[in-house]
Amino acid sequence: MNCGCDSCESGYQELLIPDRGKHLYYRLLASPRSLFVGLSFFFVLVIYIYVSNYRGVTNIYHHNADLLNVSTTAFSSTPTLERKDNVKVKSLLPTIIPPTSWVKYFKQWHGLRLPVITCRPRGRLGNIMGEYATMYSLKRHYNVTVVINNDFKKKIKYIFLNTSLPDIPASAGPFKLQDWTPVQYIGSWNNYAPIELAAAGLLGPKKFVMEKYAFEIQMFHQFKEELRKEFTFAPNYTTKANGFLSNIMENRSSELPDPVFVGFHIRRTDYKKFIKNRYGSHLPETAYFTRALSHYRTKFPDAAVFIVASDDLQYARSKLDQYHDVFFSPGFSAGEDMALLASCNHSIITVGSFGFWTAFLAGGEVVYADVTTKIEYRFSRKMFEKIGLDYFIPLPVD
Ligand SMILES: *[C@@H]1O[C@H](CO)[C@@H](O)[C@H](O)[C@H]1NC(C)=O
Ligand SMILES: *[C@@H]1O[C@H](CO)[C@@H](O)[C@H](O)[C@H]1NC(C)=O
Ligand SMILES: *[C@@H]1O[C@H](CO)[C@@H](O)[C@H](O)[C@H]1NC(C)=O
Ligand SMILES: *[C@@H]1O[C@H](CO)[C@@H](O)[C@H](O)[C@H]1NC(C)=O
Ligand SMILES: *[C@@H]1O[C@H](CO)[C@@H](O)[C@H](O)[C@H]1NC(C)=O
Ligand SMILES: *[C@@H]1O[C@H](CO)[C@@H](O)[C@H](O)[C@H]1NC(C)=O
Repeated sequence: MNCGCDSCESGYQELLIPDRGKHLYYRLLASPRSLFVGLSFFFVLVIYIYVSNYRGVTNIYHHNADLLNVSTTAFSSTPTLERKDNVKVKSLLPTIIPPTSWVKYFKQWHGLRLPVITCRPRGRLGNIMGEYATMYSLKRHYNVTVVINNDFKKKIKYIFLNTSLPDIPASAGPFKLQDWTPVQYIGSWNNYAPIELAAAGLLGPKKFVMEKYAFEIQMFHQFKEELRKEFTFAPNYTTKANGFLSNIMENRSSELPDPVFVGFHIRRTDYKKFIKNRYGSHLPETAYFTRALSHYRTKFPDAAVFIVASDDLQYARSKLDQYHDVFFSPGFSAGEDMALLASCNHSIITVGSFGFWTAFLAGGEVVYADVTTKIEYRFSRKMFEKIGLDYFIPLPVD
């Protein structure tokens, strides 16, 4: 399997640890061999950072010093990483742990090679898709076993029929959260390094459950085309979305012979409080909406048609009803609105995970709100630029 990163082409150095009893891993930690492995891991990382910087590699993320600290700690003591509030972690993006540092095990669980990673579904559709994409990219980057549990499957099974990540084997019985070791962010919502440590085999041959809204754009964005296939909408969703768009085309065929559809998602309701309390920021409003509309009207004169969806349609209408080139989703379900906006040619988004996916799936240009936040925010200019999403265009909010 091609894992998509250059370094894997040549194959990783496997450290196959025979399964001689369930405490082997811990015994190993106390052995001279573990010291050797630990030290090699450390040196390899140091060399890797040096080489990456030296070559000025930009598509490999700057190495996260926290990851190094976390991993050396994890490697020499406890393999379970819970959130530690006393750990001061800078919000740097995690990096991909180089294959030379991975640990592979013979040990299996219901025919699957350990470690095995699954995810507890958290949040609504946009979050769920972020969690799925994160799992997908873990598998692609680390060639780790990833499985989908029932609770997770339930959230997406009628919307996306083409997802490729397999279910938990039937022989394993129903998913029980307490049987899985949680892995999640550490210190900051922007540092999910522990899930990568788990994927790289550095937390042992265990079953891990990803917790707390993992949404690792920097890990999954390079698999955009694959993810767009994974997230192919079920035919009944596509039919509805296409029907809506062709209706508009037909109704306005005289004025709009060649429309360019711009999906426009406006996140409101609970996010208003959320972005204020957590990020000390506020939602984009009229000034941003007007700028975003002009951006596309200028770019596609007499052709731009805006398709608006929102969790507060009344608000959206109150701001945009006056424009003859703006159309509103009648307030479909989340899946239907996602399918509608994703079938547009370009996007305008405000904040949040739902908007991110409408834009990522639509695949064209993305105009987003350049919100100022007091702590690093996932869907912000700083993050998008760091990740290198150059088709994401920031427009001022105020
Ligand atoms: C990925 O893992 C599988 C076993 O889980 C193995 O058969 C395969 O060779 C691995 N691929 C790579 C590129 O290492
Ligand atoms: C990592 O650990 C080293 C040594 O304990 C320390 O000097 C450094 O500040 C730590 N890095 C971070 C980001 O905490
Ligand atoms: C989705 O899966 C079906 C059958 O599993 C396949 O025929 C179809 O080509 C897939 N569609 C995409 C877009 O991958
Ligand atoms: C599509 O069909 C599934 C059941 O197969 C249903 O749950 C879902 O609501 C339908 N969606 C739309 C948009 O009709
Ligand atoms: C298009 O016109 C038909 C008939 O007048 C109307 O029912 C429908 O709502 C219109 N569609 C849109 C998207 O404006
Ligand atoms: C724009 O989107 C519509 C609706 O999905 C599609 O029919 C059309 O081919 C797209 N245009 C371009 C240039 O991609």
